[in-house]
Amino acid sequence: MPRSPGSELQTIASQGLLRNLRPLDSGAGASVIRNGRELHNFASNDYLGLATHPALTDAFIEGIRRFGAGSASARLVCGTLPPHEALEAAVAQAKGTEAALVFSSGFATAVGCLPAIVGRGDTIILDKLAHASLIDGARLSGATLRVFPHNDVAKLERLLALLRAKDANSRILVVTESVFSMDGDLCPLAEIVRVVESHDALLWLDEAHAFGVIGPRGMGLAAELGLQDRIAFQMGTFSKAAGLSGGYVAASSEWIKLLINRARAFIYSTAPPPALAHACIASLELMRSEEGDALRKRLHKHLLLAGGGGAMPTPIVPVILGESESALAAAMQLEDQGFMVPAIRYPTVPRGTARLRISHSAAHDPETVLLLMQALKSVTKGR
Ligand SMILES: Cc1ncc(COP(=O)(O)O)c(C=O)c1O
Repeated sequence: MPRSPGSELQTIASQGLLRNLRPLDSGAGASVIRNGRELHNFASNDYLGLATHPALTDAFIEGIRRFGAGSASARLVCGTLPPHEALEAAVAQAKGTEAALVFSSGFATAVGCLPAIVGRGDTIILDKLAHASLIDGARLSGATLRVFPHNDVAKLERLLALLRAKDANSRILVVTESVFSMDGDLCPLAEIVRVVESHDALLWLDEAHAFGVIGPRGMGLAAELGLQDRIAFQMGTFSKAAGLSGGYVAASSEWIKLLINRARAFIYSTAPPPALAHACIASLELMRSEEGDALRKRLHKHLLLAGGGGAMPTPIVPVILGESESALAAAMQLEDQGFMVPAIRYPTVPRGTARLRISHSAAHDPETVLLLMQALKSVTKGR
């Protein structure tokens, strides 16, 4: 007999891996209400606190008034509206590329684009800790899939040399992230760019957690290192520091034209609401403004506090506890003390590395950051 969903759920639960939705009774601000209690929110990706910024709320409402609530069709039919085009021009300008293309989410961007860039006969090489959307996009592509150990450029280079020696003509796409979503560390981007170039490969850089946070005007790690024009595909999302939702890829006009023709998540999906695109433009402007710089400065101060004087490299701070039960118990204890910090378990992270994932935000108060550090000490003592 085919297995029932109930038996699958039991298996998941027996491994301590069952996930349940836990709704909030409030919006997703620096603090939230859950079960009638106020909790300091260290669980979101809203690194600058823009998700509740009045300028973005106003832009969203203005967008609805000007362009309506929905897009009514896919972009290639009649869904390309003025804010979509304006957003793409703004992203391309901010990223220093000829063109850009926006999608409903970062996930759709990866799953849509990777199979449009490589296919059977090509190879895609992923960092071992690449995000699920990149893994799924790679699998969908039909290209041969290879993995290099996390941030191990020497291994990546060896793999590239081997593949190129076998086939001089196929496409090789290297896929990595600027800031790893569950570890908060950075990729060695300059080294990766060097080995990718020297083996005539292409680089897909996912800047999801760097966009708005790192680099001049928050424009990411590639901008920070002056590498933007040496990276074929700079991907990111409006779902984290930008405070909204939606994904983008910035690249040459030719690649973007090909994606418009080949990326199925773009071709066969209704365009994001025009008001969302309109609000994304406002978010991009805000992130690149002096106010954006001030928010990044404030966030950096929180990272100094969290690091006890030495700043954490990014707002994502993992506290690895090992087993799922241990991470879940620690998260519950923090919640009892008034902090919302998620327990992250397999399959989001490798088995045996379950963790608390703390994410800092400019929206917090410095005092709250210090209180969290104290609570964390008490919760992790002896674990
Ligand atoms: C590294 C990375 N890439 C892509 C995504 C997907 O972005 P979105 O939330 O916009 O779908 C995420 C979000 O979880 C992410 O962490």
